[in-house]
Order: sequence, then C-alpha cells, then structure tokens
Amino acid sequence: PPLEEILSLHDFEAVARRTMSRRGWNYYSSGADDEITMRENHNAYHRLWFRPRILRNVGVVDFSTEILGYKSSMPVYITATALGKLGHPEGEVCLTRAAAEHNIIQMIPTLASCSFDEMVDAASPGQIQFMQLYVNSDRSRTNKIILHAKERGVKALFITVDAPQLGRREKDMRTKFEGTASAQQATGKDNFRRDQGAARAISSFIDPSLNWTDLGELMEAAKGMKVILKGVQCWEDAVRAAEAGCDGVVLSNHGGRQLDFAPSPLAILPSVVSALQSRGFMSRHPSQPKFEIFVDGGVRRATDVLKAVALGATAVGIGRPMIYAMSTYGQEGVSKALQILKDEFEMNMRLLGAPTMADVVPSMVDTSALHAP
Ligand code: FNR
Repeated sequence: PPLEEILSLHDFEAVARRTMSRRGWNYYSSGADDEITMRENHNAYHRLWFRPRILRNVGVVDFSTEILGYKSSMPVYITATALGKLGHPEGEVCLTRAAAEHNIIQMIPTLASCSFDEMVDAASPGQIQFMQLYVNSDRSRTNKIILHAKERGVKALFITVDAPQLGRREKDMRTKFEGTASAQQATGKDNFRRDQGAARAISSFIDPSLNWTDLGELMEAAKGMKVILKGVQCWEDAVRAAEAGCDGVVLSNHGGRQLDFAPSPLAILPSVVSALQSRGFMSRHPSQPKFEIFVDGGVRRATDVLKAVALGATAVGIGRPMIYAMSTYGQEGVSKALQILKDEFEMNMRLLGAPTMADVVPSMVDTSALHAP
C-alpha cells in the first residue's frame, strides 16, 4: 500500500510480513523458543492504565527531552538491530538519515550490514549517535572498535550483556543462511556455520566469559563516552551497574530473542527505579537523573512510551518497527514511523494533561494490574 495508508507502527509489520524476503522476515520477527517473552514485552503495556488529568492548559505540547544529556525530539531512540541489508539494500543508513530528519538518536549496531564508518558518514552535522557493543573474545578487536567509535564522535557505548550466547530462534534457524558480504564485513570472518540461521552465523565471536571484572577495562577504553549496560533484567544488576560507575542501563530482553520467560522490561521497571532511588543513584525527579534507565521491547505506541517515562525511564528504544518500516519503504518509511510517533505524542499528551515530559509523572499511571495474573 502507499505510505499514506500507513497509520500506525503495527501497519509496517503487516506490510513487512507480506513483502519481505523469507530470510529477512524470519530473522527480524523471530523470538526465542516459544516467543512467550517476545509477546509479553508488548502485552505488559496493556496492563498499565492512565490516570489522566484535566484542565491543564495543553495548548502547546512539548515532547522533547534529553537522553544522556543530548537533545532528542522525543523520548525515543532507534535501538541497535543487526543485518539491516536483509531488509533493505541500503541498510542501516536509512535509519541514520531518518533519525537526522527527526532529531532522534540512532544506536549503531556492532553487527550492522553497513560499515560503522558508512553510518557515521551518513549522519548530518551535529547528529548524535550511540553505539551498541558486542564484546569480542579477542579483546584487542573490541578495544579498537571502542577507540574508533570515540574518535568518530560516538557519544555513548551500550554494552550488550544479555547475549553470552545467542538465543534459539527457530523461525530464523529454518532459513538457511547463505553468508552475505555484509555479515562477513560485520565480523571479519567468513567461516560461518551456514546451517544455523542468520543470528548464530554471525555471532560466534561474542565472548561468553565476559563478567563484572571486565567492566573496568571496557570503561577505561571508553573514557569520554557514556557507558550503559544493555540487557539488564533485574534491580540487583541495575544497582550493581550503578555502583560500578555506569551511566545507565537498558532494561531489555533483546526483544524476546534471548531467554524465553525473561520478564518484560516494563514489569521490572518500578522495582529498578525504587532500588536506584533508595540508594541515591537517581534524583527523585525523573527529569534530573544521575543514572538513566532505558527500556526496550514491544514499544509500538506513544502511549507505551509515556507509560515507561511516567514510571521513571528516560527514554525507550524501538527495534522491529523501525526495521520493518525500513524494509518496506526505506528511509521514507522510517521517517513516517517517527512522524506517526510524534503525532501520537502530541495528541496523547494533551489527553493525558501533560504539556511537557516533566509532567509525565508516576501518579499518571495505575500499576495495580501490572503484576496481575
Ligand atoms: C536485535 N537486537 C539487538 N540488540 C543488540 O544489542 N545487538 C544486536 O545486534 C541486536 N540485533 C537485533 C536484531 C533484530 C532483528 C532485532 C529484532 C533485535 C535487540 C534490540 O536492540 C532491542 O533490544 C529489541 O529489538 C527491542 O524490541 P522490539 O522493539 O524489537 O520489540
């Protein structure tokens, strides 16, 4: 259908299912095992209800915010997703350019199809980019990546900590991966097991021995960039990350692609916020945090984002909807997806009685059903 007929982020998924290559669709859409966590990521948002406020002068609504101190037009960033060229021949630079159009931050994936430099070169002057890091067993390769990212102006490093081994995504495994030039570029290897699906084929370099004692060295190499752990799944680890001096955590289960029955990030958010607040790692007011909490997984509407922000998240990452938009309509599709979110923000903040992001506070959501059976 023409792009004008796309009304929500869900619509991109429906078009992607019908039009993407099988291999691309199976890689993007798959979750681990029975995909219970993948579905729960989104479903958890259905158990949070708003407590809207009235008569608050919502003539002008401003949904801009700061993420790790960098301006963003809304509390949303494009999270890292590997292998963009499985969806679109131009790959991740479509995301970079659409992010620029909307003043949104893009997280560059270690395993992108485009090279790191292509994505940095595609950015507009002043555009903020973060980078997602998979830590290599060969630590000298990782250090090189970190230093190069810093040299090229990347502002924050998101170290993925939920993937010591890639989850079992059976849909993906059913499509045999015929190694592509792009995957080889991402890993510098060409000896993939070609019968394992795209995910396994490209991920064998990830170091499963990575542990808390390695963090200091990575943070040292990353000095000057913010360091965030991506894939934290309980409050104890969020506290430990804060104690270790990280700048934040992403509550994430990798879009349900790793441990099935990992909890939805939304469900653990309140416990993480209260554990950090009680230990003095976050100021009481979410707009002035010392330590920032992000969530990703299953976010499809601005109302989802508003719920997470109300509970204390700085911003949320969006994965699949962005690459479905890219796969179906290229840069224009991604741009449209971001515009849809902006339109949703404007309307829903009015209806919620919150003219700015600082007005989106915990008392605006009713969490009593969040942990209901
Ligand atoms: C991912 N994700 C991911 N995360 C990461 O740290 N490194 C990576 O290379 C990838 N690759 C990747 C590929 C694909 C196809 C998907 C769908 C996801 C996880 C991603 O950053 C994020 O956690 C989820 O995508 C968020 O869930 P939604 O928005 O896709 O539901």
